[in-house]
Amino acid sequence: MSEKNLAGKKALVTGGARGIGAAIAQALARAGASIMIADILEEPGKATAGEIAKTGAKTGFAKLDVRDDEQWAAAVAATISTLGGYDILINNAGIEITSLVIDVKAEDLRRMCDVNIVGVGLGMKHAFRAMRPGGAAGQGGAVVNIASVAATIAFPAIAGYSGTKSAVDRMTRIAAVESGKLGYGVRVNCLYPGLVPTDMGMQLAADIVAVGLAPDPNAAVASVIEQTPLGRLAEVSDIADAAAFLCSNDARFITGAGLPVDGGMGM
Ligand SMILES: NC(=O)c1ccc[n+]([C@@H]2O[C@H](COP(=O)([O-])OP(=O)(O)OC[C@H]3O[C@@H](n4cnc5c(N)ncnc54)[C@H](O)[C@@H]3O)[C@@H](O)[C@H]2O)c1
Repeated sequence: MSEKNLAGKKALVTGGARGIGAAIAQALARAGASIMIADILEEPGKATAGEIAKTGAKTGFAKLDVRDDEQWAAAVAATISTLGGYDILINNAGIEITSLVIDVKAEDLRRMCDVNIVGVGLGMKHAFRAMRPGGAAGQGGAVVNIASVAATIAFPAIAGYSGTKSAVDRMTRIAAVESGKLGYGVRVNCLYPGLVPTDMGMQLAADIVAVGLAPDPNAAVASVIEQTPLGRLAEVSDIADAAAFLCSNDARFITGAGLPVDGGMGM
């Protein structure tokens, strides 16, 4: 893949303050894109944007709760005015609340649905409106939704989370069909990352212990590695490079796809 293959592109990354989102933002910037970090976390979000700006990339920060339609409209408008366009959406913000099915709480399921499903749906809506011909940006583009290996396997204690990520997977396909058939010029794909030791990933390892499925977090991680043919956890850069590829012209005939980035765990 050529080094600066996203030169001139303008990208909004939700949940870009830290973890996988921050790594994706950095990878897109390295490939030449301008970056709007969008997150509920203001200080870490501005700090991540500031770090990327030091590499010479144009950046901005938008406070965005992905559950809120009006905040989406404002974040997209801020992206277009700050960066001068809007070509790439990374729908990365997400939450995971661990529970055995027998203990599941309605409010936890609703919170995950709200962030992981409603957030992704609203993000695609506002991306399509802005990127399609005649929209405020109007140049077409690429959307990458961050699903999870959890959408492809049956891992205990994350039934609700896995359901929301399966929804992201389906929404990706339907959005890709609508965009293609209705001439929006926006490709839509998703990634299925394996376990990544971010704040979320390490909390999950601790939660697996708390629900009695592993004796300690190291054993929980070892069991995931044991289920992974490539024999290690994912790193944020593994996910970031795959996202950058899907945004690039190298992926120009790829839409409606779900790409595992899980070392083979979901085979
Ligand atoms: N870490 C893993 O093992 C793993 C594996 C597969 C998929 N994923 C997915 O990757 C994505 C990123 O995960 P991560 O590990 O970096 O998590 P993280 O918890 O480290 O970071 C998530 C980011 O999303 C932001 N966020 C949360 N709710 C938000 C909201 N309502 N509006 C805007 N921003 C919000 C947080 O503030 C944070 O910056 C998530 O969608 C997650 O489900 C993670």
